[in-house]
Formats: sequence, C-alpha cells, structure tokens
Amino acid sequence: MPAVIVLGAQWGDEGKGKATDQLGADVDYVVKFNGGNNAGHTVVIDGEKYALHLLPSGILSPGVTPVIGNGVVVDLEVLFDEITHLEARGIDCSRLRISADAHVIPSYNRTLDRVTERFLGARQIGTTGRGIGPTYADKMNRVGIRIQDLFDASILAQKVEGALEQKNHLLVKIFNRRAVDPAAVTEELLKYAERVRPMVVDASALLNDALDAGKTVLFEAGQATMLDVDHGTYPYVTSSSATAGGACTGSGVGPTRIDRVVGVAKAYTTRVGEGPFPTELLDEVGDGLRAKGGEFGTTTGRPRRCGWHDAVVTRYATRVNGLTDLVLTKLDVLTGYERIPICVAYDVDGVRMDEMPMDETSFHHAKPIYEEMPGWTEDITGARTFEELPKAAQDYVLRIEELGRCRVSAIGVGPGREATISRFPLL
Ligand code: GDP
Ligand code: IMO
Ligand code: MG
Repeated sequence: MPAVIVLGAQWGDEGKGKATDQLGADVDYVVKFNGGNNAGHTVVIDGEKYALHLLPSGILSPGVTPVIGNGVVVDLEVLFDEITHLEARGIDCSRLRISADAHVIPSYNRTLDRVTERFLGARQIGTTGRGIGPTYADKMNRVGIRIQDLFDASILAQKVEGALEQKNHLLVKIFNRRAVDPAAVTEELLKYAERVRPMVVDASALLNDALDAGKTVLFEAGQATMLDVDHGTYPYVTSSSATAGGACTGSGVGPTRIDRVVGVAKAYTTRVGEGPFPTELLDEVGDGLRAKGGEFGTTTGRPRRCGWHDAVVTRYATRVNGLTDLVLTKLDVLTGYERIPICVAYDVDGVRMDEMPMDETSFHHAKPIYEEMPGWTEDITGARTFEELPKAAQDYVLRIEELGRCRVSAIGVGPGREATISRFPLL
C-alpha cells in the first residue's frame, strides 16, 4: 500500500494543503515531517476556508489520523490555539498524534528569531518570526527541548536552564534584552504536559506498523525545495529539510518504503521573504498576478513576490526529490494573458545555464531566458478533465511537463476541493 510524499517544488505556498486535503478520502495517515507554524495552508471545503499552520492538513478529513512527526518543531501555545479554533468549527482533533521526539519551540526562541533578524539588518532573511531557526539550531546544538521532556519536570528544568545559560548572555550582552527566567519557562511548558500527553506516541512505530498493515500514509512537507536548508537558496531558506529525504528523517520511515514523491508547483511562481528569485516581476504584471492569485501570506499576511513559472526550478525539484508526479496548481490564475512566458534557462553574466547553477553567486546573477506560450481567455475554473481545457492551456501544461521532466498528474483550476483535473491517479 502506498507511502506518498507531497512537497513543495518552488518557494512554498504552491497549494500543498489543498493537494493533501484532496487525497484525504483515500489516505489513512497524514504525517507532517518538517517545519512548524511558519507554514500556512489554506484549504477550501464547500466554500468554507480553513487556515492551518501547525496541524497536518489531514486533520480536515474525518477518516485520517494526523501525525506530527519528529522532524517538526512544535509551539505548544499555537498547537492548542489551532485545536481550539478547529474544534469550535466542528472539526474533531482527538485523532491527532505527536511524536515524543518532536522538538518544542520555547518562547525565548521566538524572541531570539526576531532580535536576530533585526541584528542582521540588510542581510535579514525575512523569517516568519516564529522561532523556527533558533529551535532547529538548538536541536543540532543538542540543547533542544523535546515533547518527551515535558513528562519529567526535573529533566525539563535542567534542560531549559542549560539552554538559557548561553542564550541569556546573548540576550543581555549582545541584544540588549532582559534575561529570561528558566523557572518561568519551565512552568510555562509544564502547563501543557497533561493536555499533550494523550497525543504522544512513538510515531515511527505507529507509521511503520500502519504500512505493514497495508494502510496508506501521506507525508506532508511544510515549506518547499527552494527553502530547504540543504538544497534551497541558502542562506535565504528555512531551517529544516523540506525535500523528500526529510520525509524519512522527519518521520522514522525508511526510504525503501516510499512509493511516490509528488511535487506541487504553481503555474507561475511566488516567494515570501528575502532571497534571489530570477523570474520575479517587479512591475504591474507582478502586481496583477498577486491580485488575481490572492498572493498574500496565510501566516504573516505579507504580500508574496510574484513571477512567471521557472522551469529550471521545477526541473531541479524533480532531480533533488526524485519526483514521480507534479501537481500544477493555480492554472486558472493565468487565464487572460495574451502570451505566457516560461523561464527555460538562465543567463548568468552572459553565459547560458540550462540547470540550477552550482553556486549561489551565479543564482543571484541569473536572468531568466524566456520562451513564450500563447495564452487563453476561456474561463477554465469549471474544467474537470484535461480535454475540457482550451488547447493553449493544455499546451502550457504539456510544456511544463516536458521542461520539468516529470509528468503533470493533476491540475488545479480553483481553490475549492473540487476544482482539480486529475490526469493520473496519485495513489
Ligand atoms: P501551501 O502552503 O502550499 O499549502 O499553500 P497556501 O495554502 O499557503 O497557498 C496556496 C493558495 O492558493 C491558497 O489560498 C489556496 O486556497 C489557493 N489554491 C490552491 N490551489 C489553487 C488553484 O488551483 N487555483 C486557485 N485559484 N487557488 C488555489
Ligand atoms: P508553506 O508550508 C512560504 C520563508 C520565510 C522566510 C524563510 C525563513 O506555507 O509553504 P522561517 O520563519 O522558516 O525561518 O523563515 O522561509 N517561509 C515560507 N515561505 N511558505 C512557507 O510555508 C514558508 N515557511 C517559511 O518567509 O523567507
Ligand atoms: Mg503556505
């Protein structure tokens, strides 16, 4: 039975939440394997809009067990806020399971995220300010706090004290802030212990047993390939592994068990925060894409930077993730353009590069080389088969498939759950 990874092929917000939600009816488990509440997934069901940050999108499907894997960083206040809000709207969250090994975002890391950004000045990353980077840094530095630590008050106190030993020097001497009281942080975290306890599991054992029993598991990535800490536009990335390998390390399921890797890409491109973006349109065409596509962040409300589809990025995502399928979203947003450019290669200081440059400096210098496709004017939001799309829209999809070196198995033509064309089954 299949284990399927769904991940972002660009810089995030490709519509992963909708793709995951759509597969919900045929899936038994949805596991989030990286990131935290820096993610924002908007899912529209019967005209009702749900904005998810920390919870896996599977929470919206009654038959699904949503799992937060060990690779995720959990802000407990956000977790219970999100649960409270969803339950108030009639969504049952009692099925949620959380890995004992997932790390917790203590409040001091939110503070550090924000002051560090301010300190970076012109070199700032444009983070979401949710404490994601400092919490993953603590994990690697071996001074992180894990969910399981909440169940041993004296261990927790020791760990918080240990983590704050250096951080308080930083806060006071470098950032000119007040020191944080370890006892207050410990108390704050302990408040959640009993509430979280019934959800805590050995997620690796749970998921492997599920696969043994023939269940279907969907691995849902936060962020995206170009924001991956190893394969993205470092340092303008998030601090976790958002690519396919992260699904294994972030869940405790081995790579030999994975059947499909699905990349989600927009028919154009967006990016939030700082960092290079070759096809960015800084003119009224970009403003038009933003307005038509509703490109404002689900998490921070920031306007997303917009540009044409970058097929070099898509091809790169196919390679580093070993994609088996692409889901191409928001094709409806491109209706009405006379001609639609696709970036097929880069001009780097006068040299043509067909693949992602090896070094970051070249990527910062990359100018898009475009190929123009004819546009269409017909409303495509009601199309439910590939054949119902106008010829120009079909050609556009086929060209992206060819340039991306991966078949396009589904096409999004609107935000609603139903607004999708399926070409090849994903499960
Ligand atoms: P995620 O972070 O990858 O889950 O994506 P977001 O939810 O942050 O952003 C995607 C946005 O596009 C959401 O507002 C979705 O409702 C919307 N969306 C997804 N697919 C489509 C589509 O095919 N057409 C249109 N018009 N909107 C879509
Ligand atoms: P979803 O899952 C788009 C960006 C931030 C910033 C950089 C680092 O909705 O696709 P962080 O707070 O993670 O340390 O910020 O990464 N970023 C995202 N951009 N979609 C996301 O998530 C993002 N999560 C982080 O804007 O540039
Ligand atoms: Mg998003």
